Amino acid sequence: MHSKTHMLATDLDNTLVGMPEELEELTILLKQETGGVSLVYVTGRHADSVKELMAAEHLPIPDLVISDVGTAIWHMPDWKEDSAWQEKMTADWNPDSVKTCAGRFPSLQLQNLPDDRRVSFTTEGDTAAVRQFRQALEKQAIPHEFIFSSNRDVDVLPKGAGKGNALDYVIRTYARPDVRLLVAGDSGNDIDMLDREWPSVIVGNAHPELQAISDRQTLYRADRHCAGGICDAWQYFYGSANSTEYKPKKLSGKS
Ligand code: GLC
Ligand code: MG
Repeated sequence: MHSKTHMLATDLDNTLVGMPEELEELTILLKQETGGVSLVYVTGRHADSVKELMAAEHLPIPDLVISDVGTAIWHMPDWKEDSAWQEKMTADWNPDSVKTCAGRFPSLQLQNLPDDRRVSFTTEGDTAAVRQFRQALEKQAIPHEFIFSSNRDVDVLPKGAGKGNALDYVIRTYARPDVRLLVAGDSGNDIDMLDREWPSVIVGNAHPELQAISDRQTLYRADRHCAGGICDAWQYFYGSANSTEYKPKKLSGKS
């Protein structure tokens, strides 16, 4: 992974996955990159759920999987958990106090997850309860990160977690310093990694909540959906498939 010149860090549902022909197109495009492309999946799913999706959709085996909204990092192909990140995640994390606090908001349904590395809920649009829950966590000074996405999912994560923070750790720890990166996503839990300086693509089918991300030189808003949008952004940032030089084009027009 350290030797590869490029990296694609992508969300799965409705970003990499969703348009099979475009995924095929992307796979071919990435294979042509002569310096190699490391692949990092960055998803809200838990590890077993990622495994199921990878099998069902015949996804390529990535170098790393960041699961559970950035609370776990797995080294592939043998799913060995990154112990340094795990330590960081557990240091100041008290899932029981999060659950107790949530008890006051019955419209938030606790998600059935295999472990407590995060505490997640779903809501049928009771945004007032989401807001009050967030305030209650703050008031009780429970260390956490709070992510509300798709008007449905509420993720309460250990402090310092999130897709962006986990990806930042991965890049600093495992990528070459001059790696040419593309980050891809479609919904609220991706904001944390899309709203940084990294070259990023918001795919054409993205949830409206991503409109909150400000335009910048390194952000590409794709017209095509899912992997089609990733292909277009890859060409946009890294030019012809055989180029090994990083030459970001003048970003005009497209916003
Ligand atoms: C995925 C996960 C879910 C999480 C959501 C938002 O759908 O399966 O647990 O709440 O992403 O991050
Ligand atoms: Mg998604």
